[in-house]
Amino acid sequence: MDNVEKLTVVGAGYVGLSTAVALALLGREVRVLDTDAGRIEGLKRNQPPFYEPGLAESLVRASAKLSYTTDPAEAYADTELAIVAVGTPPTPAGHADLRYLYQALETLAQHPVSLVVIKSTVPVGTNHDAKKILGPGVALASNPEFLRQGQALSDTLYPDRILVGAEEEWVFGVLERLYRPLIEQSFEELPWLPRPKALREAIARGQRVPLVRTGLESAELAKYAANAFLATRISFINEIANVAEAVGADIEEVVRAIGLDPRIGPHFFKAGLGYGGSCFPKDTRALAYLAKRGGYDFKLLRAVIEVNQAQRYRLVEKAEAVLGRLSGQTITLLGLAFKPGTDDLREAPSLEIAEELLARGARVRATDPKALELARQVLDPRVELFADPLEALEDADAVLLVTEWPEYRALDWAQAKRRLRRPVVLDGRNALDPQAMEALGYVYQGIGRGRKRSELAL
Ligand code: UDX
Repeated sequence: MDNVEKLTVVGAGYVGLSTAVALALLGREVRVLDTDAGRIEGLKRNQPPFYEPGLAESLVRASAKLSYTTDPAEAYADTELAIVAVGTPPTPAGHADLRYLYQALETLAQHPVSLVVIKSTVPVGTNHDAKKILGPGVALASNPEFLRQGQALSDTLYPDRILVGAEEEWVFGVLERLYRPLIEQSFEELPWLPRPKALREAIARGQRVPLVRTGLESAELAKYAANAFLATRISFINEIANVAEAVGADIEEVVRAIGLDPRIGPHFFKAGLGYGGSCFPKDTRALAYLAKRGGYDFKLLRAVIEVNQAQRYRLVEKAEAVLGRLSGQTITLLGLAFKPGTDDLREAPSLEIAEELLARGARVRATDPKALELARQVLDPRVELFADPLEALEDADAVLLVTEWPEYRALDWAQAKRRLRRPVVLDGRNALDPQAMEALGYVYQGIGRGRKRSELAL
C-alpha cells in the first residue's frame, strides 16, 4: 500500500481525535468514525467533545481535511489505512475491556483496508489476536500513544518518540511515511500550538524525532511499562513526602537535591494526592493483572497502586487532625479535575475525598474552573458546587486544595480569609507558598512539608 494521504481514525476520544486533528493539520485527509452520534454531530459543527487546549481552533483550521461519520461503509470507502483508537476502559476486576476494540476490528474485517494501526492501549498479545480477526490479507501495527491530557495535541504534534511495533518491513515504511512531517518536524509552526523550544533547537541541530521499531508485543508492553514507571515515580515521591512529614524534612527541598542527579532527574516528582486520570490507574492495574495471568507477581507495582490509593486520603486525615472532628464542619474543595488543564474527572482523587468527607459527616462545598458540568453528573448531589472560588470558600472550616489550577495560586488569599470561618488551608498539591500563607495568618499544611525539628521542639 502506498497511499498515506488518506486514512480513517476509529474513535473520537482524546487519542483518536488528537491523532486525527494532528494528521489533518499536516495535510492528510482524515475521516473520523465513532459510534457516538452526538459526538459526531458536534464535530461536524467543529464542536470539541471535551476541553483540550488548541483543539477548538485546530478543528476549524483543519476542517477542510476532516470528515466525521458513524457509518463504517462511509468511513472505510477507498481507504487503505485505518488507525484504531477506541477506549479500553477497565473492568471492575482490573482487566482492560476490549469490547470496543473487537467490535471495531470485526467491522474493519468486512472492509478492504490493507493496514490497521492499533493506538488503543491494549494488553500484550492483543495485536496478535487482532490479526486473527482481520484475516490474512490485512497487516497490523501497534503504535501506542503517549499523549497527556491537557497537552494532547501538542504531545501528538511534538512527540519525544514514535513507537511502532510490526512484523513486516513494509509496515514500518508506511508508518514512517505517514509520520514523516512529525519525525522531521517539517511543518510550519502553528501559532496557537507553538513548537516547544527544546524540540525547535534539536531540529535546528539536525536531530529527528526517533521512530522506535519493535515487535508487536514489545510495543504493547512498552506502553504499559512507561505508564507503570511514571506511576512508580509518583508513589515513590509520595512515600518520601510522607517520611519527610514524619521526620521533619521538606519534600520540595529533597526533590531539588535529588533531581539534579542525571540518573534521577527532576521531572514527574510532584508529591501530592497521587495520580488519577484515565491512564495511570487503569494501566497499572491492567499490567499487574497481565503479569499475574502470565504467572508473575509484580510486587512493586502492587505496592505502587496501594500507596496511590492511601495517598488520596491524606488531606482528609490532616483535616480531621487539625479540626478535631469532621462531623458538622464545612470543607471546601478547590479543584475537582484529576489534574489542571482538563475537565476530566475519571479516577480524580476529588471524588473519593468528597465521598469520605461526607461519610465522616462534613458539609462539602467545591469549585473547579472546568469540571463543574461533569461534576454535577458524577458527584454526590450533597456536594455544593460553585463557579466562583470565593463563594465556595464562604464559611468553610478548612480549605482542601485538590487540583493545582493556576487560578488557586493567583487567588487573593487575604480576601479569601475574610470569607472563611477558620483560616485552615490544606494544600494537597504543594501549590501555595507556606511562608506567604502563614504570614497571612493561615494554618497551612502541604504534603511532605514537615516542620523542622527546631520548630517542633522535638
Ligand atoms: C499520562 C501519561 O503522562 C501519558 O504519557 C499517557 O499516555 C497517559 O497517561 P495523563 O493521565 O494525561 O497522561 O496525565 P499526567 O500529566 O501524566 O498526570 C497523571 C497523574 O499523575 C495526574 O493525576 C497528576 O496529578 C499526577 N502526577 C503527575 C503527580 O501526582 N505528580 C507528578 O509529578 C506528575
